[in-house]
Amino acid sequence: MNDISTREDLLLLVNEFYRKATIDPVIGHFFTEVIKLDFSEHIPLIASFWENILLDGTSYKGGTMVKHIMLNRLSPMQPEHFERWLGLWEQTVTSHFEGPKALEAVNRAHSIAGIMQFKVGAHGNAG
Ligand code: HEM
Repeated sequence: MNDISTREDLLLLVNEFYRKATIDPVIGHFFTEVIKLDFSEHIPLIASFWENILLDGTSYKGGTMVKHIMLNRLSPMQPEHFERWLGLWEQTVTSHFEGPKALEAVNRAHSIAGIMQFKVGAHGNAG
């Protein structure tokens, strides 16, 4: 197996992740009902997010946390949702790629999810 090294790799990864996530019984509804995502826009956006983190990209301009704070207000994000999200991400990464970037993709997702969980909790459903 190769490591993650191109935007094409990230597009494959993100496509595969959402193929599973959208039909997942625990988190699928966030992407298909709470927010009815247009995946022709969302997938390239998420590939850019990871390109910034893993491949020195600059095209993703941020705003991730605010989006999830808003999402949490529409439909509360619980620890089991984060666990499932991370489980699917790790499964997708490790079934296609191997190496330092693949490891970083998994580790960074965990740390971002930790911060996200804190932020959505801190901002809660108060307003
Ligand atoms: C319970 C876990 C999660 C769920 C259910 C979830 C769901 C969603 C949904 C529905 C959106 C679209 C929001 C909108 O357009 O209004 C979104 C956007 C996004 N998510 Fe998540 N997410 C989760 C965790 C994460 C994690 C851990 C990361 C990063 C490692 C992440 C990265 C992103 C990014 C980059 C966007 C795009 C934000 C933007 O529009 O710029 N998500 N997520």
